Amino acid sequence: MTEMDLRGTVSLVTGASSGIGAAVARTLAARGSAVALLARREDRLASLALELREAGARALPVPADVTDPERAAEAVRRTVAGLGRLDILVNNAGAARPGPMLHGSVDAWDEMVRVNLLGSLYLTHAALPHLIDAAEQGPRRIADLVGISSVSGRAVHAGNGVYAATKQALNTYSESLRKEVAGRRVRVAVVEPASVATDLLPARVRGTQEAARTFERLSPADVADAVAYVVTRPAHAAVSQLLIRPSESER
Ligand SMILES: NC(=O)c1ccc[n+]([C@@H]2O[C@H](COP(=O)([O-])OP(=O)(O)OC[C@H]3O[C@@H](n4cnc5c(N)ncnc54)[C@H](OP(=O)(O)O)[C@@H]3O)[C@@H](O)[C@H]2O)c1
Repeated sequence: MTEMDLRGTVSLVTGASSGIGAAVARTLAARGSAVALLARREDRLASLALELREAGARALPVPADVTDPERAAEAVRRTVAGLGRLDILVNNAGAARPGPMLHGSVDAWDEMVRVNLLGSLYLTHAALPHLIDAAEQGPRRIADLVGISSVSGRAVHAGNGVYAATKQALNTYSESLRKEVAGRRVRVAVVEPASVATDLLPARVRGTQEAARTFERLSPADVADAVAYVVTRPAHAAVSQLLIRPSESER
């Protein structure tokens, strides 16, 4: 199967200040896409933009908090104004604050729902008309919306119920949207990684899990590679779900 060229396209990656999002931005830029970088930590976005520009790519920081619908919409407007169009949205920004539900932190639940579910919905709402325009006007004749879900969207365990619920919700609305916009040539996909070596989990949890771990974790670049696979399929082929695990993981 021939890969699609990303030259001439514009991508917007949320959560681009670290981990998987930064790796996705690097990978899409290396394949020729101009990349808008969204997160709250402006210094990190600025240094990634510099790195990408030095490598010959077009990169635009669009600092925003995804939980604010106005700022999310403004980031999409700035992307289109600054880079000319929007072909690919990667909804990657996320929060994970695991813990028991009994006497659990309501603030942690609130943050996970606001970032993982509502934040991705706000970006999707603002970006969809532009994705439809990009698909109509070519050159690829297709646009892509990719949500970074999780293996937790399929398999739950004690202590990650609210995080898993947000990822299952992401899977659910993505499947509904896939059906809604299939005729408009917008592909909707979820990439579902298992354990990835990033700063997502609070340090106290990372320490505990590190001690118990018997297998290698995925790297952010592995997940970026999966995203690149999804968005470079020929226009007639849509990968809707892609689950990626460390090979030795039983989870
Ligand atoms: N690591 C794993 O094992 C794993 C497994 C499956 C799925 N995932 C998913 O992968 C995605 C990326 O996580 P990661 O592992 O790469 O962790 P990470 O390095 O902590 O990245 C999280 C990103 O989300 C951004 N973010 C958080 N809250 C935000 C907000 N309110 N507004 C804008 N941006 C916000 C952060 O940027 P700022 O703080 O600068 O805003 C950061 O760039 C998440 O959706 C996560 O659920 C991770």
